[in-house]
Amino acid sequence: MAESWVIMVTAQTPTNIAVIKYWGKRDEKLILPVNDSISVTLDPAHLCTTTTVAVSPSFAQDRMWLNGKEISLSGGRYQNCLREIRARACDVEDKERGIKISKKDWEKLYVHIASYNNFPTAAGLASSAAGFACLVFALAKLMNAKEDNSELSAIARQGSGSACRSLFGGFVKWKMGKVEDGSDSLAVQVVDEKHWDDLVIIIAVVSSRQKETSSTTGMRETVETSLLLQHRAKEIVPKRIVQMEESIKNRNFASFAHLTCADSNQFHAVCMDTCPPIFYMNDTSHRIISCVEKWNRSVGTPQVAYTFDAGPNAVLIAHNRKAAAQLLQKLLFYFPPNSDTELNSYVLGDKSILKDAG
Ligand code: DP6
Repeated sequence: MAESWVIMVTAQTPTNIAVIKYWGKRDEKLILPVNDSISVTLDPAHLCTTTTVAVSPSFAQDRMWLNGKEISLSGGRYQNCLREIRARACDVEDKERGIKISKKDWEKLYVHIASYNNFPTAAGLASSAAGFACLVFALAKLMNAKEDNSELSAIARQGSGSACRSLFGGFVKWKMGKVEDGSDSLAVQVVDEKHWDDLVIIIAVVSSRQKETSSTTGMRETVETSLLLQHRAKEIVPKRIVQMEESIKNRNFASFAHLTCADSNQFHAVCMDTCPPIFYMNDTSHRIISCVEKWNRSVGTPQVAYTFDAGPNAVLIAHNRKAAAQLLQKLLFYFPPNSDTELNSYVLGDKSILKDAG
């Protein structure tokens, strides 16, 4: 092998938002969840990670830069992903440049990784989901791993649980799996991104502050102390998963909205049932819920679904462009600019929505 070459691969992966939440691990090391979950993957134009991975015989160690700043790769999660992909590396040949890397060579070669998020990190939306999915996908391409996206999702899962769902577009199910080694705990696509493309997702940024309790710590404490979680994981979620898949396949917004809101509320109830209780939502989050609930009730059929992850920011899923335009008007009315409760909204859909909607 010549000593001066570099081979690079760049990949882009969007983040995803769970509509049936993952909360609680049955195996912390392998990141195996206590229940199935379902998410919607955002349009790659919004909230996505771009990662370039490079390999060269001149690199002396694995290194990574996140948004231009070098970070340590010593954490178990990065090491798990690197190890699992390296174990699946295959021969790579660049005939034009006369470069040949055999399966065995990968054991001695180091990688450099540069990762960027296209959304303001200060917005409190930074998510490890897009990051680990993108890292695993880019490394797999670089090392010519032959695994399909579901098999890769089981590796991304070991970086961050929710990351496994970002390997697919559309609606995605993370099957909790049964076997001890976690090989069947992976993501599958429920429907692709074209199936239900009139939904509009709006993220209302309530606070850009970093959350006090990370998801990892929060769910550990919940598993250790909440009885409600056990009931949720065993009795509630399995039924909800079936109903949610049906609603998505039939594009039944009323049922979809009901399940999405109920599951978000139960996730936060489980957080409250944790000892000591975890509060991710704040007063503004609660006001957004009331506003959506009141509106949905007054119209008779739901127009918007809400869901909140481990923080106070609202993810609002509107039935169509008209509902999204009305929602934005309501948000501006109830949370006016330059007030204490001003929101910073990201419309993750067609930018011309306000002009076009009737
Ligand atoms: C509330 O995937 O961030 O967003 O597996 O410990 O990295 P780790 O946790 P993470 O948890 C996400 C929790 C959630 C719900 C969800 O995305 O399903």
